[in-house]
Amino acid sequence: MSDLLETLFLSKIYQSPLVLASGVLGLTADSMRRVLEAGAGAVTTKSFGLEPRKGHACPVILPYHSGLLNAVGLSNPGVDEMVKEIKKLHQESKGGIFASVFGKTPEDFGEVTKKACEATPDLIEVNVSCPNVASEFGAPFGADEFSVANITRIVKKAAGDVPISIKLTIHCPSIEKMARVCEENGADALTAINTVGPGMLIDTGVMKPILANKVGGVSGPAIFPLALKAVWEICANSSLPIIATGGVRTADEALQMIMAGATMVSIGSGIYYKDIEIFTHINQDLTAWMEARHIHSLETIRGAALE
Ligand SMILES: Cc1cc2nc3c(=O)[nH]c(=O)nc-3n(C[C@H](O)[C@H](O)[C@H](O)COP(=O)(O)O)c2cc1C
Repeated sequence: MSDLLETLFLSKIYQSPLVLASGVLGLTADSMRRVLEAGAGAVTTKSFGLEPRKGHACPVILPYHSGLLNAVGLSNPGVDEMVKEIKKLHQESKGGIFASVFGKTPEDFGEVTKKACEATPDLIEVNVSCPNVASEFGAPFGADEFSVANITRIVKKAAGDVPISIKLTIHCPSIEKMARVCEENGADALTAINTVGPGMLIDTGVMKPILANKVGGVSGPAIFPLALKAVWEICANSSLPIIATGGVRTADEALQMIMAGATMVSIGSGIYYKDIEIFTHINQDLTAWMEARHIHSLETIRGAALE
């Protein structure tokens, strides 16, 4: 891979700014290693909690013409199994590993973080913004500044030396204010954004919602402009490094996120459209774009659209 893409994020250099987003291929060391080999600079695990969780009944993922609707429902094998997978991946690969955690209560977030840090991930990503478990968990913590401040403090304390990123939702009164709340309470980075909605699709044959959970978070191309604007607003108001997430499928879209101020760019739904080679192709296209313009580092264009 070209050195041009090397990216400094929280005092570590990654081979590429591209990251596997949480929730897609992030449950086993083997699947995450394949994504790193395809060119991701880092991978994010599927969000995990203290205990194993089955998640929602099938169908849980629904492609439609502008994106995906998912109500996976945070299915995961629990922190003890995920610690084993992260340790295994550490032994097999030098790529970055971000551990995504969630909790039913603020205290759960602290406990799961403490256990996850036994595997020394490069980052704890704090999922306070899953939109498809509201029937069980209530409204996402990410909608409320007080809850986000509290969870940020708890996780920061539990994480010790491991940096933390809070994963934000656009479904809050002001995402730029939420970013400042995270910064003031100890976050080292921010991830923006989680899926949007939830939304719904109906099978007109049986006249019922298609997802067993009825509603699911919207991701993919439909949300790219929303994610880009959120990243741009956050970067204009916060000095924290950002992992931009939402609808990215091409090098041009990754560049737009970087020009809006993002340091890393993560990809989830893009894998549905282009398989894991999406990382290889975007790396190649980014490199070609930089070479054609004699740009030697992404640092020189980061935030260019903010001015
Ligand atoms: C099938 C699926 C499962 C997801 N699971 C999680 C999850 O467990 N934790 C999380 O923080 N985000 C999860 N997400 C959200 C993604 O990480 C990402 O924020 C969102 O999909 C927008 O990016 P994308 O358009 O590139 O997919 C999931 C998304 C999808 C499509």
